[in-house]
Formats: sequence, structure tokens, C-alpha cells
Amino acid sequence: MELGSILEFLENRSIIVTGGTGFLAKIFIEKVLRVQPNVKKLYVLLRASDTKSAMLRFNTEVVAKDLFRVLKEKHQGNLNALISEKVTVVPGDISCENLGVKDSGLLEEMWKQVDVVINLAATTKFDERYDVSLRINTAGAKHVLDFSKKCAKLKVLVHVSTAYVSGEKEGLILETPHKMGETLNGTSGLDIEAEKKLVESTLKQMHAENCSEDTIKSAMKDLGIQRAQKYGWPNTYVFTKAMGEMLLGHLNENMPIVIIRPTIVTSTYKEPFSGWAEGVRTIDSLAVAYGKGSLACFLGNPKSVIDAIPADMVVNAMIVAMAANANQPNESIYHIGSSVSNPLEYACIQDCGYRYFTKNPWISKDGKPIIVGKMKVLNSMDSFRRYMEIHYLLPLKGLQIVNTACCQYFRGLYLDLCRKIKFVMRLVELYRPYLFFKGYYDDMNTEKLRRAAKESGVETDIFYFDPKSINWEDYFMNTHIPGAVKYVFK
Ligand SMILES: NC(=O)c1ccc[n+]([C@@H]2O[C@H](COP(=O)([O-])OP(=O)(O)OC[C@H]3O[C@@H](n4cnc5c(N)ncnc54)[C@H](OP(=O)(O)O)[C@@H]3O)[C@@H](O)[C@H]2O)c1
Repeated sequence: MELGSILEFLENRSIIVTGGTGFLAKIFIEKVLRVQPNVKKLYVLLRASDTKSAMLRFNTEVVAKDLFRVLKEKHQGNLNALISEKVTVVPGDISCENLGVKDSGLLEEMWKQVDVVINLAATTKFDERYDVSLRINTAGAKHVLDFSKKCAKLKVLVHVSTAYVSGEKEGLILETPHKMGETLNGTSGLDIEAEKKLVESTLKQMHAENCSEDTIKSAMKDLGIQRAQKYGWPNTYVFTKAMGEMLLGHLNENMPIVIIRPTIVTSTYKEPFSGWAEGVRTIDSLAVAYGKGSLACFLGNPKSVIDAIPADMVVNAMIVAMAANANQPNESIYHIGSSVSNPLEYACIQDCGYRYFTKNPWISKDGKPIIVGKMKVLNSMDSFRRYMEIHYLLPLKGLQIVNTACCQYFRGLYLDLCRKIKFVMRLVELYRPYLFFKGYYDDMNTEKLRRAAKESGVETDIFYFDPKSINWEDYFMNTHIPGAVKYVFK
């Protein structure tokens, strides 16, 4: 594989990036503007009703973020000039044809100008409504492909998926495509059109029965999980992302497509500065709960490997893969993770969490430091269920009896506890595949990309994405946890 200068590749290119308000999209936009201000145009597509509200979202939810501080310093108060010259904010929605872009002039301009399409728009909720998730993660991928096919100068489409489309496989998981209709458990009959029809008929029936919006929402959430599990995927998110990949593979007609499958994305390693993060994501939801003292036990085998990768490395890998695969008439898949190259044990995260929060306790709203203890580790779902039984379900039964005996006096308390327990059980069920994961994401294609970049003397200092360079303990103690505390703890 021959690789030329990535900076030269970016120069004078027009790039459309979808999901512009998202975590990875922001990092991508900032990086391109910082390292290659001579990019021709960045079309940033985000959901908004019109250009004015799209601009407002871009200014408040993207450029105003601390992430852009280094770029602002570089341009000494003149960032707006760069942005107005290089960025066109596009109100749109990938769940619609033509990406929901209503301005036909702008659409024509993009079809004429765009060299690279980056699809980062997605719904990342594990238990999203099935209708919503199918529209965005599955049909959305097809709409992005259809849009790309109309771009006269297209060099490559980069679609960001997730490593977890492979479900809960054990052992080495390869960077192989998901063929149309292929399921993870061998159950036959997966047909994306039929899934859409199932959603439509279920909705039609529920509307005919005058079901409330809440009832419909919860039925759609349940339907997603049910359909995912029927075909061997643990949740709606990864199932609909897998179907999105299937459509791209099936309909690509030799178009250059890159599928990026990141594992668990954590805060930035180095650029624009270390420790930038946003939103409560997979392992951070545990860190937040632990640091705030509301988590009494950890779930997961301390010896199991958690596959994490810093966000800036994901973005760098996307950019290098984009340049390497430009004009190559095939689909290339890249796992962007660390479990093979530099495995991170769950015990390391637990230990760092304990040491960090012991030294730097979170201060509660009433000004008191929260003292964290060494965690009780429940290393299987069975031990978790036993723990819940003893600590919560039995006392709950007791409360139910007392409540009945006291003429429903404790009804409020009882219902509140029921709701909380149900919530925790559902959350744990959703995260189970990540906490007890026994797979390793093979990153042979990504490794080849790294080698090619190194051998071609490409700007590896700017576009670094080698997880072997990470010292996990140092990263969690000095970068990720402090970053999560600063940007994610609220
Ligand atoms: N972060 C991770 O840990 C991780 C790991 C593996 C893979 N990934 C993948 O990486 C990609 C980006 O993830 P992220 O973490 O950056 O997610 P994110 O922060 O949730 O961003 C997703 C963005 O997509 C936008 N979006 C949703 N539906 C849309 C639609 N119909 N049309 C246009 N935009 C839409 C959302 O916009 P609104 O603001 O309008 O809601 C949001 O800004 C996703 O494909 C995800 O599956 C992420």
C-alpha cells in the first residue's frame, strides 16, 4: 500500500461530515481545520429546521466547546474568518432521501464539489426505539451511500460503524464484512425490508388502537431489543448498525468505501489537548456513578479485556484510511481498538478509579468529599443476580408486605424502589456484552495502514493512531479520569 502525504491529500478537498454536533465529528472538524486550513470546504450536516438554527447549533454546540480552544489560540481571535470561509453548515437529516437537504442549490453544489463523505451521524442509544434506530442507523447509511453516488468527484465514503456489530463473539474477531441477511446466531430470515414493514404495521396498529405516545415508545424500544436478540445481537444499536453495514456492502457498486469500526471511544490522548471528552459514554457511566459514591459494586471480570481507544486516535485513523483508500474500488474494514495490540484489563480501570478518587474525591453538592471504597467485584451475571436478590429484591419483598399491612402507606417508596431496581437491571442487561466480553478485535488491516504510513514517511506525528504507545495506567490516572471529571461529571 502506497501512501502519500495526508496533509496534501486534504488540501483543496471538499468534505461533507454528517452528525456534525456529535463527539467524534467535532474532533474531526477541529483536526482538519487545525492541521490543514487549506482544505477547500467542510460541509457540516446537522439536524436543524433551517440554516439559521443550524448555524446556531454549530456555534453553540461545536465551536464554543473547549475542544476548539487550541484552534482559537492559533488563529488569535480570527477563527470566525476561517470558519466562514471554510465551513458551510448544512441543515439536514440522514434518515431522509438526499440527506434531508431542502436547499436544491446547495445540494447541487455538494454533488459537484464533494470529494469525501464522512458519515458520523447515528443514534448511539443501546435501547433506542426500533423505528428511530432503523431510520438513522440502517436507512441512514443507505441514504448516505445514495448521496455519495451522486457526487461527481467522489474519492471515498468513510462510514463509521462500531466494532460491536460482531455481537458477543469470543476469541479473535476479524475485520470481515457483514453479508446481507447473515445473522450472528444462524437464525435465517433476516430481511431489512421486512423489518421496516414490521415496524410500520406495528405502529399502524398501535395508532389504530389509540395507544398513548408513552406506550408506543416503550413498545418500539422493546421491539428493537427483541428483533436484535432474535438474530443474535445484544441490542438495537449494534443490530441496526450491522444492518447499515449490510446495505453498504450490498449496494456499493464498486465505490471506494471505508468502514471504521471503533471499539469503546475514550477521551483524547494528545490532541488538541489530552483529556477532552463529552457525554456519559460506556465505561464513563460507571466512573461517574463510582466517583459520586452511588455505585456499591462493579460488574465484570477483572481479568477480562476492555477494548478502549482514545477519540483522537479514531479520528486520525479515519483520516489516514480515507487517504489510503481514495479511488480504490472496494470496501475496506478497519477495527480501531486496542485489545490485540495493547490489551487493557478491567482491573486496571478499577484500580485507577479507586486510586484517583481516593486522592481527588468528588465534592458533593453540600460541599463534602465523597469517600470511595475498594469495589466489590461481581464477576458473573449469576453473582450479580444473587447480589441484587440479597441486597434489594428481598428487602423490596419485605417492603411490599409492610406496605400492604399499612394500607399502602409506603406505596410511593415501594414504587420508587421498584422503578430504580428495574432501571438498574435493564442497564446491566444492556451493558452485559461489554462488561463480560471475551473477544479480541483483530486489527490486521489497521496495522497494515499504520505500517504503510510509517514506511511511506507520512506525517505519523500528526496522524498517530497506534494504541501500543499508550501506557494505560498513566492514561487513566492523568488523562481520562481527570478529563471525565472535568467535562462529563455534572
Ligand atoms: N463514541 C463511541 O464510543 C463510539 C464507539 C464506536 C462507534 N461509534 C460510532 O461513531 C459514530 C459517532 O459517534 P459519536 O460518539 O460521535 O456519537 P454522538 O456524539 O452521539 O453523535 C452522533 C451525532 O449524530 C447526529 N444524528 C443523529 N441522527 C441524525 C440524523 N438523522 N441526521 C443527522 N444527524 C444525526 C446526532 O445529532 P443530534 O445532535 O441532532 O442528536 C449526533 O450529533 C457513530 O456512528 C457511532 O456508532 C462511537
